[in-house]
Amino acid sequence: MPGHVPVLLPDVLAGLHLQSENNVIDATLGGGGHAEALLETISPDGRLLGIETDQRTLNVTRHRLERYGSRFNAAHGNFRDLRGIATAHGFPAVDAILFDLGVSSMTLDEGDRGFSFQHDGPLDMRFDPTTQTLTAADIINTWSAAELVRCFRELGEERMANRLADIIVMSRRTQPFTSTVQLATDIAAVKHQRGRIHPATQVFQALRMAVNDELGAISAALPQAVDLLRPNGRLAVITFHSIEDRLVKQWSRQAAKAGQVSLVNKHVIVPSRQEQVANPKSRSAKLRLIEKINSTA
Ligand SMILES: C[S@@+](CC[C@H](N)C(=O)[O-])C[C@H]1O[C@@H](n2cnc3c(N)ncnc32)[C@H](O)[C@@H]1O
Repeated sequence: MPGHVPVLLPDVLAGLHLQSENNVIDATLGGGGHAEALLETISPDGRLLGIETDQRTLNVTRHRLERYGSRFNAAHGNFRDLRGIATAHGFPAVDAILFDLGVSSMTLDEGDRGFSFQHDGPLDMRFDPTTQTLTAADIINTWSAAELVRCFRELGEERMANRLADIIVMSRRTQPFTSTVQLATDIAAVKHQRGRIHPATQVFQALRMAVNDELGAISAALPQAVDLLRPNGRLAVITFHSIEDRLVKQWSRQAAKAGQVSLVNKHVIVPSRQEQVANPKSRSAKLRLIEKINSTA
């Protein structure tokens, strides 16, 4: 199974201000690239809790990092339940928390999960099929044209949302959509490719975010993360598109106004040109660093 290259790794490590005995939560464990580097940085005594909603990914990464023994704790769950998961695993107060949002390369490459138009598979896209019921096929085959337009526009910033929703509604009357390539082909038939971006990219992003209620999960998790942090503890959030980044920016500004946090950087941190060339998937990444205010200072 090909690995996932952790993005903005030196910036995350430097930005979280870690010490050797720190306790840390990686709320999006994925392939464990960041987690491994965090565990090395907080060695020999620091402990890390990795949370992952995707059971297959969790199994692979748990095995990969098992050499860290009791310093590495892995939890299957959704970070929208961050406080409960952290407390249940013995991490009621921590020094740093990382969110590296989105989907890992491992999951994208598994065609049968239905995340990718490059690998044919069922239109599924659930991060956790053991607890989630709504699939991308349900959305594409049952939502009204107006609901599809809203989804494509708000979660995918798709400029042809109306036209694509009409085509999908017309097409599904004769044959319901079942596969990723079937949907991507219909989209590509009406929307021309611009540059290197496949015409179905925004619709697939919107569907994934809707299936997994990704904005709802991060909105629920951010205040819990601040609660869990010790005074002066740090939060790092990596996003991959503007809708998510806007949410994190607006929330962090409000939390700063309320005197709960301070913003470590005035501007977002983005990958260097060198990182973008070495790992093209990092191109759209943005990192925000937030510090919990020490209210007794
Ligand atoms: C971009 S990847 C993280 C990669 C990781 N930092 C690494 O270095 O390998 C994001 C991971 O978060 C998981 N994820 C997404 N939403 C989640 C949620 N609400 N709760 C827990 N895990 C989630 C995805 O399944 C995916 O494995």
